[in-house]
Amino acid sequence: MAKLLLNTDRILILIVLLTDVIVVQGQTQEGNESNSVRNNFQMELTQKLFTNRSLVVPPYSYNADSSFNPINVSIDTFIFSISGLDLRHQQFTFVGLFVLRYTDPSLSWDTAVYPVDAIFVKPEDIWTPDLFVMNSVMPFDQLVKKQMMVVVYANGSVTWSPGDTITTTCYVDIQLFPFDSQTCTVIVSPWVYFEHQVNCTDTVLSLPEVQSAEWDITETSHRIKRSSGENGKSWHIVYTVKLRRKWLFYALNVLLPVLLVSGLNSVVFALPVQCGEKMSVSLTTFLTLAVFMTLIQDSLPSNSDTVCYLAVYLASQMVLSVAAVVVSAVTVACHHRQPKEENSTQNIRPMSSADATDSSATVADRSEVKPEAVDWQRLGVVIDRICFPVFTGLSVLSFLIYGIVTAL
Ligand SMILES: *[C@@H]1O[C@H](CO)[C@@H](O)[C@H](O)[C@H]1NC(C)=O
Ligand SMILES: *[C@@H]1O[C@H](CO)[C@@H](O)[C@H](O)[C@H]1NC(C)=O
Ligand SMILES: *[C@@H]1O[C@H](CO)[C@@H](O)[C@H](O)[C@H]1NC(C)=O
Ligand SMILES: *[C@@H]1O[C@H](CO)[C@@H](O)[C@H](O)[C@H]1NC(C)=O
Ligand SMILES: *[C@@H]1O[C@H](CO)[C@@H](O)[C@H](O)[C@H]1NC(C)=O
Repeated sequence: MAKLLLNTDRILILIVLLTDVIVVQGQTQEGNESNSVRNNFQMELTQKLFTNRSLVVPPYSYNADSSFNPINVSIDTFIFSISGLDLRHQQFTFVGLFVLRYTDPSLSWDTAVYPVDAIFVKPEDIWTPDLFVMNSVMPFDQLVKKQMMVVVYANGSVTWSPGDTITTTCYVDIQLFPFDSQTCTVIVSPWVYFEHQVNCTDTVLSLPEVQSAEWDITETSHRIKRSSGENGKSWHIVYTVKLRRKWLFYALNVLLPVLLVSGLNSVVFALPVQCGEKMSVSLTTFLTLAVFMTLIQDSLPSNSDTVCYLAVYLASQMVLSVAAVVVSAVTVACHHRQPKEENSTQNIRPMSSADATDSSATVADRSEVKPEAVDWQRLGVVIDRICFPVFTGLSVLSFLIYGIVTAL
């Protein structure tokens, strides 16, 4: 917000600077003339320029055969700051200024008669080209703020610099998030005029000292596209801004924690069953991954055209994590399988029966069954021993695949 204010300030300063220049010029020219004389020619000039003015017919310059030349508009576009690129809503917001220059022959005067170099006019008082940002997501009537004054020079040359905070749609490609680059376009076009009425002859896109904490600007370009339709040729300007994300934030705050947590998947198998925390560790790992998944999904659009590799990597870690939970459950079950049988059958029997033959039978039973319990426990240990390297391997492998796919 502070940045935004700063930039609108800059535009204001620009306009104020322009105003100062003109006022100074006016004063030096007017010199020591009395106020009444000055007021006189000001009124005359105002009358000459603004009485009987048509705002409907563009100020064409007519040839002898009453054909007219198109009004040649040059558009210099400045982007002062990039407020943000909202991945979720696919919106690109920036503070921009369009400097339109064209010649309006009906707005010229002789500086010998009216010693004024330039005047300032409200855009609604004169004809101005009706330019719109076509891919804006804002209401159209807000695009170009009508209160921004127009500078008219004595030779009829007109400079109008409407500026605003503009939000355009920007189709984002989230595949490589957070190592992504995005290309956003700003399309400027007249609403009604064709090329033979209002023609864009020249355009520039400049980004003076644009700084963004989130993005690097890698490339900008501009191009006038001309197309012919039924009623005549039309044109629109396409400004392109390529942005590359500064990924350090996401690497430190998302990727690194996910990498570490997914490492915990295999640590579960290094825990002995006796410590009793096996299940809670594996479940906590799963929940942590689920939380990170939610975090990432929150900042991504619900776009199914392309899949974010990071989300796929996270999902694969969640699958591993669920597998770890299941395997841990199996090993814990293996560990506790035999002792339960011993308790329920063998230990109770001698107490219920004092018979010597019976007790000798149970001893025999025990010696038969105990190796089986050891077998089950061993099975659990073996599963743990196998799973530890397998899960570590899978973790490393999935990270490598993610790294390779992202780097390509
Ligand atoms: C400027 O105007 C004042 C009074 O109106 C007059 O006294 C003075 O001589 C004028 N200066 C010049 C350079 O004409
Ligand atoms: C404006 O138009 C009226 C009627 O056509 C005419 O009488 C008047 O002189 C015009 N004013 C100027 C300043 O041209
Ligand atoms: C605009 O440019 C064309 C050439 O591109 C020229 O013929 C025409 O006279 C210009 N129009 C004006 C109003 O200067
Ligand atoms: C009109 O005057 C302005 C300011 O003096 C100048 O920048 C511009 O080039 C002039 N335009 C033409 C068409 O001479
Ligand atoms: C519009 O401007 C372009 C570039 O200056 C020029 O090639 C084209 O002929 C112009 N169109 C018309 C109708 O004057």
